[in-house]
Amino acid sequence: MIGAQWGDEGKGKIVDWLASRADAVVRFQGGHNAGHTLVVGNQTYKLSLLPSGIVTGTLSIIGNGVVLDPWALQDEIAKLESQGVSITTENFALADNCSLILPLHRELDGLREAAAGAGKIGTTGRGIGPAYEDKVGRRAIRVCDLAHLDSLGPQLDRLCAHHDALRAGFGEQPVDRGALVASLREIAPFVLRYAQPVWKRLKKVRKAGARILFEGAQGVLLDVDHGTYPFVTSSNTVSGTAASGSGLGPAATGFVLGIVKAYTTRVGAGPFPTELEDAVGQKLGERGHEFGTVTGRKRRCGWFDAVLVRQSCAISGVTGIALTKLDVLDGFDSVKICTGYRLRGRILDYLPSHAGDQAQVEPIYEEVEGWHETTAGARSWADLPAQAIKYIQRVQELIETPVALVSTSPEREDTILVRDPFVD
Ligand code: IMP
Repeated sequence: MIGAQWGDEGKGKIVDWLASRADAVVRFQGGHNAGHTLVVGNQTYKLSLLPSGIVTGTLSIIGNGVVLDPWALQDEIAKLESQGVSITTENFALADNCSLILPLHRELDGLREAAAGAGKIGTTGRGIGPAYEDKVGRRAIRVCDLAHLDSLGPQLDRLCAHHDALRAGFGEQPVDRGALVASLREIAPFVLRYAQPVWKRLKKVRKAGARILFEGAQGVLLDVDHGTYPFVTSSNTVSGTAASGSGLGPAATGFVLGIVKAYTTRVGAGPFPTELEDAVGQKLGERGHEFGTVTGRKRRCGWFDAVLVRQSCAISGVTGIALTKLDVLDGFDSVKICTGYRLRGRILDYLPSHAGDQAQVEPIYEEVEGWHETTAGARSWADLPAQAIKYIQRVQELIETPVALVSTSPEREDTILVRDPFVD
């Protein structure tokens, strides 16, 4: 399951719905930059790092593709436990080859963004980018290293040499190695409790016939290769990452569910062809409660962009989509869908790769009749107004991908199931 826009597609609700029917849930990329809100009965859970299955007691796994802030993990576990969720070594496992996000990564993220002025990415400030840089730069400290802190010296030398040079460029003090090692020593037993080669655990559960749900974070348009580069996150968010980020081969991924919001939002900077900076955009934001789960930032809002979603579905091999937040479009006289772009006199049916072109494309809209009845809480097609059904049909035609689910409220049961991802 992956987000097919810029994140915040309502994955929390869908993943919770699916997790209640899965035997294992796996996070495979990103870190605590993600934010999922789960509403189960009268309880609301906010998750950033832990797989959503944790709330229902389903085996939850953080794969090697995730960058892990151990202190964020500790806080999130403590918060969930205070809400009555039980997190044990039975229902939670953490890849021992995950790279760590350290305080120096968060600091560097902040320093860079502050220095970037108008060119800033608008990151979540969690240190995600710098941590991935150290991972591919082969100088990261990983979860398994926490069991060998006494021999960490040479690794720390390399890491600190790199960061001290960067920090000096920002006029900052070198890394306080003593404080870093002391804090790692303090957190190590907590993290190591859950650490293991999760590929082995996954191999075992797969062999036993378990239904495994891979829970993507962010969205395809934030993918470091396929997204609106450089206004992206630092991981691959596409479905293919589920295999490399967990240690199970590509055959394990099966049905690819793309989560798609009935309109478009984005947090942070970067191109957004259908953005509405008028009263309509304001209305979408208010009705859709479009504020970031992690940072509280106001999300930018706009009409549905079928060009982008068609591209995301193709790139990620999406089998079917889950359409979310349809009710936010209730009450509009007419609704627009972007079907193509105009760029310097040319018509495009895709988003070009160049950042300058991405910033310049102008949306070509198709206007469809709206509906005034409410779609909130609908559980079957019969509950939906005819115009809303027409909208859904037009969306699936334009994105060349069928609708598998329609979500009509944050409640788990308010879902129309068209095609079951676990059966088909
Ligand atoms: P980073 O992942 O913190 O480096 O942020 C890079 C970009 O990805 C920024 O535009 C963020 O707003 C965006 N981003 C990161 N995580 C999420 C998410 O979970 N939902 C939506 N946007 C995100």
